[in-house]
Amino acid sequence: MTVQGVEFLPDSRRDWQDSPAARRRHAVTEANLTRHLDGPQRVLDAAGGTGHDAVRLALRGHDVTVLDPAGAMLTAAMACADDHGVADRVHVVQAMAEDAPELFGPHDFDVVLCHNLLQFAEDRVGLLRALTAPLREGGLLSVVGPASGALFVCPASDVLDDLRAAGAEVLAHYGVDVQSGHPLSYFQIIARNV
Ligand SMILES: C[S@@+](CC[C@H](N)C(=O)[O-])C[C@H]1O[C@@H](n2cnc3c(N)ncnc32)[C@H](O)[C@@H]1O
Repeated sequence: MTVQGVEFLPDSRRDWQDSPAARRRHAVTEANLTRHLDGPQRVLDAAGGTGHDAVRLALRGHDVTVLDPAGAMLTAAMACADDHGVADRVHVVQAMAEDAPELFGPHDFDVVLCHNLLQFAEDRVGLLRALTAPLREGGLLSVVGPASGALFVCPASDVLDDLRAAGAEVLAHYGVDVQSGHPLSYFQIIARNV
């Protein structure tokens, strides 16, 4: 599939995505999420980037839509899906997460990922509302963000409040330490759309 837009993927970003620390973070957050899933799900990966989360979930049999405004990211995501033999279960949409309510129907997804995006949002509750709009009632929202060691940090306690303000019920809160002894760590919160 050809996608239009930004056809530039900085090498530093690619190196980071492929680093052991990043792979470990994707593996841990996938394992946490999987504990809450039962059978194949329709997943929206908002800000899905190069598809590392999407391909992992597609390999488990889930059907994943990667949404990202950057065309180069989506091209890389499809190449990654191809390489792993799951291109039929990975789809791409070039758009902003804030536009999700206009792009999808109200029950189109069982799971929405918001991984490493919320810390950049000016209106976090507004973004979470936009992302729960296409989520079916009872569907799950997984939010991952840096807890420490990053330029943009959004405290997990604030995100818990944001999720409740957006009408979601918090089910679980995990700490995700990427590397022992390394200052960069993440939180992951799983919430249910009520
Ligand atoms: C830090 S990466 C996160 C990638 C991946 N989800 C992860 O956890 O590694 C940020 C991604 O967010 C995308 N992005 C930035 N602003 C966005 C927005 N408003 N809506 C959706 N994606 C956005 C960028 O293009 C980039 O691919």
